[in-house]
Amino acid sequence: MDAIDHPGTVYPGIDGFLGTRASFMLDVLVIAMGVVVVVLAWSIYQVKYRRRYELHKWAQVTLGVLLLVAVVAFEIDIRLHGWEDRAAGQLEGHAPTDVWIALAIHLVFAVSASVLWPVVIIRALRNFPNPPQPGPHSRFHVPAARAAAIVMFITAFTGWTFYYLAFVR
Ligand code: HEM
Repeated sequence: MDAIDHPGTVYPGIDGFLGTRASFMLDVLVIAMGVVVVVLAWSIYQVKYRRRYELHKWAQVTLGVLLLVAVVAFEIDIRLHGWEDRAAGQLEGHAPTDVWIALAIHLVFAVSASVLWPVVIIRALRNFPNPPQPGPHSRFHVPAARAAAIVMFITAFTGWTFYYLAFVR
């Protein structure tokens, strides 16, 4: 079934606020990922060019907590209410194949990010001095944290692609 709007359809769960077929929590996560991308870029700029290590530390810890809360709330919403009716545009509908492909690609990065981020944050908190400074842990942190950042950027972009294909067009 193609993603066609059926006006008046009452989907399970709370409707979103972006004017698409998506649920409230999907809309929250789409916006949260925008915040994450901007704050992450800013935090890396602060550490790389301004050497503001303490600021970078708290920016990253805050992002980690924000993501954890948003993803848990989102997972609960999806487990309770599903998403495929909304993607199909009708109850008991099926999402088109390209939506499933976009979701599979997105999940590869989202799952990698949710493994990499806690590892990078917890290891940094344990191994950098307090207040944080470059040191022996940099040999692990710089490449691992770069990978974690890149995976998070790709998670956001693939997530937005899934959102567009499933709930907008
Ligand atoms: C997922 C979370 C994090 C990400 C994505 C991240 C990202 C980065 C990146 C990309 C760099 C290298 C910048 C460059 O290219 O030179 C960096 C450096 C650094 N980060 Fe993080 N970071 C994270 C968490 C933390 C935490 C929690 C701390 C402190 C406890 C921390 C402390 C540092 C320090 C001290 C440096 C400088 C290392 C050096 O230049 O030798 N980071 N971070």
